[in-house]
Amino acid sequence: MKRRFVFATGNRHKLEEARAILGGRVEIVSPADLGYAGDIPEEQETLEGNALQKARHVHGLFGADCFADDTGLEVAALGNAPGVRSARYAGESRDPLANTRKVLRLMEGVTRREARFRCVIALILDGKEYLFEGIVEGEILERPAGDGGFGYDPVFRPRGHEESFALMPASLKNEISHRGRALRALERFLCREEERWRS
Ligand code: IMP
Repeated sequence: MKRRFVFATGNRHKLEEARAILGGRVEIVSPADLGYAGDIPEEQETLEGNALQKARHVHGLFGADCFADDTGLEVAALGNAPGVRSARYAGESRDPLANTRKVLRLMEGVTRREARFRCVIALILDGKEYLFEGIVEGEILERPAGDGGFGYDPVFRPRGHEESFALMPASLKNEISHRGRALRALERFLCREEERWRS
């Protein structure tokens, strides 16, 4: 039987992505699947802090093995902002279009355009905590390109590629994205742990 993990997210898109990468090895359920309709707090000043806070919250609710992720867009010329504030960069309404416009406005006329997405996953397994990280390097475009994906995808072009994330097929984005990389780091860890469970 597959070991079960609760993924501390309310985002169906992330849940599908995690199942696509880890589903062959473990069963993944969401708090909603277990009947939880409350919020999952993320009030910390770092991605690591938020990922841990979300995982601990869900561990407290269900006492189950679980994991949570937190992502930030880090723009070098903006001192690595919006970072941990990526979802709320233009205000508490968490409006992705307004967030993207704010980045483009602040980057007007700026030639140094390097940026990266950084995703941190916190895992609680048998009561012990572990952190995993995934990074994709790239740059901020001068104007949006494409309407696929979500969040800052239209203005981020990963290094070594011609297209923004918003113009890529989801399969290619998942292969190179920050979250895909962090999930695969988690998968490698679970693969090693699985050998221990079975022995
Ligand atoms: P979260 O921690 O995954 O919810 O991400 C925080 C914010 O970062 C989101 O509200 C998005 O604006 C942005 N973000 C996270 N992942 C991506 C991505 O893959 N593409 C574009 N924006 C993203």
